Amino acid sequence: MIKTDFLVIGSGIAGLTFALEVAEKGSVIMVTKKKDTESATNYAQGGIATVLDSSDSYKLHIDDTIESGAGLCNRRAVELMINEGPQRIFDLEKWGVEFSGSFDHGKKVLSLGREGGHSRDRIVHKADFTGREVESRLVERCKDHSNIEIYEHYAAVDLAVVNNAKKQRCVGVYVLTSDGIINIILGRITVLSTGGCGQVYFHTTNPPIATGDGIAMAYRAGASIRNLEFMQFHPTALYPIKGQAFLISEAVRGFGGILRTQDGAPFMKNYHKMKDLAPRDIVARAIDNEMKTRGEEFVYLDITGRHPTEVRERFPTIYKHCLKQNINITKELIPVVPAAHYMCGGVLTNLSGKTSLQGLYATGEVACSGVHGANRLASNSLLEAVVFSHRAAKSAKSEIDSLPEPVVPPMMKNPYGSSDKEEWVLVSHDLFQLRKLMWDYVGIVRSNLRLERARRRVEIIRHEVDDLYARSRLTEGLLELRNIALVAFLIIRSAIRRRESRGLHYTTDYPHEDTSKKPQNTTLRRRRRS
Ligand code: FAD
Ligand code: SIN
Repeated sequence: MIKTDFLVIGSGIAGLTFALEVAEKGSVIMVTKKKDTESATNYAQGGIATVLDSSDSYKLHIDDTIESGAGLCNRRAVELMINEGPQRIFDLEKWGVEFSGSFDHGKKVLSLGREGGHSRDRIVHKADFTGREVESRLVERCKDHSNIEIYEHYAAVDLAVVNNAKKQRCVGVYVLTSDGIINIILGRITVLSTGGCGQVYFHTTNPPIATGDGIAMAYRAGASIRNLEFMQFHPTALYPIKGQAFLISEAVRGFGGILRTQDGAPFMKNYHKMKDLAPRDIVARAIDNEMKTRGEEFVYLDITGRHPTEVRERFPTIYKHCLKQNINITKELIPVVPAAHYMCGGVLTNLSGKTSLQGLYATGEVACSGVHGANRLASNSLLEAVVFSHRAAKSAKSEIDSLPEPVVPPMMKNPYGSSDKEEWVLVSHDLFQLRKLMWDYVGIVRSNLRLERARRRVEIIRHEVDDLYARSRLTEGLLELRNIALVAFLIIRSAIRRRESRGLHYTTDYPHEDTSKKPQNTTLRRRRRS
């Protein structure tokens, strides 16, 4: 058993920011299930939205965010995020992150990009590898800090929860180490920063770590989960998709890129006044519609209108990746399709990142802080992660002294059973089916029939997986499979509950927003047996 003051689960922008902020107050252990830099953060291309230009204003960014969120944003949360954004960008710079820009009389002026749904240029970036720059600098800072220890290849299995004066208190986490051993790490405060769940879908821009572990663990522990029906599909992943889909950043459209059908016709003018820079849900649905009505497997993105040197300088990663696939984006059109990209819902938190369980915070993509509503505005997620991790850290530092020492919970049951190879093969096959099912039936366009069919099938798979889990020696693959099956089930349940189309949730049975009542959130909570 290991003990710490602050236990951080996950080493993306959310976990790293939280760790750096609380380390002045106490000891920090960060567990992460792969190598320290492996995270969605590491792959972020476009950048971080914030108001820095004199032609922009907080009000405009707030309005754009709320417009995109289709009636479900928490206005207070949005205002906090946007008002505090510039200060958090300065913090990142203080920690060594370098953004693209130029010098004017010795003062750095950051270069600001444009993405869908934004009415001004406000995306701070490092060319098209913003995430890698942020991730590597923050990992370096954490490694330099004497109060922070990073445990790589430690996979969190379940939250350790005890009864504390009639409240459920999170006292840490059960982890599976790289030696296949289960251990308990006790934290006086635990923060979930495990990222998203794109791997629930067959085609996703998310890295393999994004298996929804945080949502699944929090749900099993009895925390409230909100708005899981709002999975955001990024309009432009490189076609054909092999493994983790390669993203063609929305910043390409912000730089003049135009979507065209295979016969070369631009089509976004038929769907929205902002054309190619319309909010993401609208662009993804437009592409889906063009592909289905024309029977075509992809559409094109055309950036050949810009000078080749500019394109190579602004998008070096995309240029090189496409060139390896024999596409010279300065001369040729890029074949693209939508792919699952970002979970707008998650573990419900207040404005300080606190969840409904005492001692447990959640920040970053795993959390539902209320800022994204039914559809996240592009490049607002890195911003949300850094702002709400800062807020959570502030709250955790002031709360920690009032929390009693965590009591040691019982050890997990049956961690060392045996596993049946044949059954494991069958269940892995189920994983393939499950992700396919989510893609085909719970994707960009939904219907009652599809959702019900998906629910029945996912339920069967989930029970088979749970059964195997209860009998088998725990492996990382098995714990991820269990989490994917649960999160898929929760997404479907949330989608079935929403009897309207709103933001990212579009169903042919209820094609319009329900205007007869105030927009509703979908909240799920499992009753715990104590
Ligand atoms: P992550 O960065 O995903 O980190 C999660 C961490 O948790 C990882 O270290 C992971 O290994 C660890 N973890 C997960 N499960 C466990 C477990 N069971 N035990 C231990 N550790 C665990 N957003 C923007 O705002 N701007 C962009 O330009 C942008 N571009 C993107 C491009 C791509 C290709 C993708 C996939 C996403 C992009 N996003 C962008 C979204 C944004 O990158 C993510 O929402 C954000 O990085 C999430 O940060 P996070 O710290 O919450 O999670
Ligand atoms: C992108 O670069 O298109 C991704 C931006 C985001 O997901 O916010």
